[in-house]
Amino acid sequence: MGEVSRRSGFAASAIRYYEAEGLVEAHRSAGGQRQFERSVLRRLAFIRAASNVGLSIDEIRGELARLPGNRTPTKADWQRISRHWRRRLDEQIAALERLKGGLDGCIGCGCLSLRSCAFSNPDDVQAERGTGARLLPDTLRRPHPTRRTSG
Ligand code: FES
Repeated sequence: MGEVSRRSGFAASAIRYYEAEGLVEAHRSAGGQRQFERSVLRRLAFIRAASNVGLSIDEIRGELARLPGNRTPTKADWQRISRHWRRRLDEQIAALERLKGGLDGCIGCGCLSLRSCAFSNPDDVQAERGTGARLLPDTLRRPHPTRRTSG
C-alpha cells in the first residue's frame, strides 16, 4: 500500500475507498496486508484522469469493468476502453466549450444576479426544471465523484 500510495500520489485512504468501490483489487499477504499488482498504478492513473474530466464513480467503474480482472490488461484492452470512452470525452469537450463560451451569461442557477437572467430565467422559472444551473449541459451538472482522492 505504501509503495502504491507514494508512486500514484493517492492517499492510502483513497486507495482503500477505490478497493471498496471495486475499482482496484488487492490480495492479502500471510500477515493480512494488502498487496497490489503493479498494473494497479495504471488503473489509479485512469481513475484520476477520468474523475478530472468529470466522469462519475459509476462511469469509471463501468469503464474499468471492461478490463480483464484475472490478468494485467494489455494495450488492446486499454484501446477498447479508449474507443468507448472517446464518445464520452467528446461530450465532455462540447460541454466545456459551452462553459468556456457561456459563463458570462445566465446559467439558470437561481442567483438572478445578471441582466441576462431577466431574459433567460425570469423569476427563476428554471427552478421548475430542477436543481442547479439548469442552462448548463448535463455533463456539467453531474454530482462530482468523491474528493477523498489524495492526502
Ligand atoms: S446566472 Fe444565476 S440565475 Fe442567471
